[in-house]
Amino acid sequence: MLSKFMTSEKATLRIGDTVYELPVIIGSEGEKALDIRALRAQTGLITFDSGYMNTGSCASDITFLDGEKGILSYRGYSIEDLAEHCSFVEVAYLLVHGSLPTLTEQENFSEMLGRSALLHEDMVHFFDSYPSKSPPMAILSSMVNGLCSFYPEMLLNPLENLDMMTARLVSKVRTIAAFSYKKSMGHPLVYPRHDLSYCANFLNMMFNSPVAPYEINEDVVAALNKLLILHGDHEQNCSTSTVRLVGSARVNLYASISAGISALWGPLHGGANQAVMDMLEAIQREGGNYKKYIDKAKDPADPFRLVGFGHRVYKNHDPRARIIKEACDKVLASLRIADPLLDIAKELEEVALKDDYFVERHLYPNVDFYSGIIYRAIGIPANMFTVMFALGRLPGWIAHWKEMWDDPNGRIGRPRQLYVGPKARPFVPIEERVAGK
Ligand code: ACO
Repeated sequence: MLSKFMTSEKATLRIGDTVYELPVIIGSEGEKALDIRALRAQTGLITFDSGYMNTGSCASDITFLDGEKGILSYRGYSIEDLAEHCSFVEVAYLLVHGSLPTLTEQENFSEMLGRSALLHEDMVHFFDSYPSKSPPMAILSSMVNGLCSFYPEMLLNPLENLDMMTARLVSKVRTIAAFSYKKSMGHPLVYPRHDLSYCANFLNMMFNSPVAPYEINEDVVAALNKLLILHGDHEQNCSTSTVRLVGSARVNLYASISAGISALWGPLHGGANQAVMDMLEAIQREGGNYKKYIDKAKDPADPFRLVGFGHRVYKNHDPRARIIKEACDKVLASLRIADPLLDIAKELEEVALKDDYFVERHLYPNVDFYSGIIYRAIGIPANMFTVMFALGRLPGWIAHWKEMWDDPNGRIGRPRQLYVGPKARPFVPIEERVAGK
């Protein structure tokens, strides 16, 4: 894939008296990168970049984001257009296949999703064995890995069977998510229905009950649809890089996605919207005193950060946050919910956006700032927020796994390191050893 983006431009690197030339690659949106693949062979040096702050681990044609300009697009389509006009199923298809589905392709994909929605009944019994307080992310990650055991026939020629594997994952993860919630409540499972759309089906499995049938509200369906689209992909974030790295060892799709789910579980990654709700609730308990939290966030001696603010890549605005804020207003109005946490969030945002501390550091609300309020209004509990994130991110993970698997020049991912441990030393027999030495 890279060769078509090679340029004649070269960067020069001087080490001592020797000058080396490094090729410059240019991406389709004009982003430039230094190709350092031959650097170690030429110079004996590795590059050092812990946290991968400035390392391109792959070339990808799935998602483009420009953090300075606040741009996010999937396969060339802006996130604003996709959130406005598409269903999550269409966007999932786009991410995995590279083009938006035609009417027939969409019907076929929806049909496959419908047919794949059930879990093997032996898998359903797994839910009985998890303790009732099991974190839903633990259940999700192990159940997805468990799919390898139930559908091993797909593992031999994954790319030939990718449509089926994609449909299975996108459909069954939704069922697993809803079942894990029902089990945590001690309520009977609600099985998927073929006649409902992807999001309506999920909401029905979550909230329908023998004592109170769930009424599907189209505004709620639309809000969930937007949230899932906005989380669909975000290029080489921690969980996606995990999926690619694990998959680069030629690990099957299910196990690679299971690893991605584990990465997403972390509070520094997928768990932030839960933390936003905790913060807003704490402010509410203290009588709405959000100024105290702004002061805490600004105090260099205090490690506290305004959760839901700032982003490693977006330094202008997070385009997803704007769309989510609008969806939040709409869904709360439709459900006639006056959530005081939304008022606190808006006041907090207004004050922070005018405050020099936040302005100078380019700190804006991120995708997590308003999403938790929508989930709360819909009735999704905080411990399911990261599962919802996983549901949205799934097509992105599949697309990246496919791209990585399909790359004829792909190699196992294996970063280097700078060793800073003890120098070579003589072996000491056990009877002569001193503790800690
Ligand atoms: N509140 C207060 N100050 C902040 C915040 C914040 N939320 N975020 C960054 N800063 C300050 C830092 O203290 C630092 O100040 P300094 O220059 O005086 O030392 C400066 O802004 C730059 O911060 P960095 O840590 O270098 O920014 P980085 O890009 O590494 O971090 C991160 C990004 C982790 C998202 C950070 O902004 C943060 O912790 N935000 C709150 C947690 C959060 O909302 N996470 C969700 C991210 S979205 C997602 O993962 C889906």
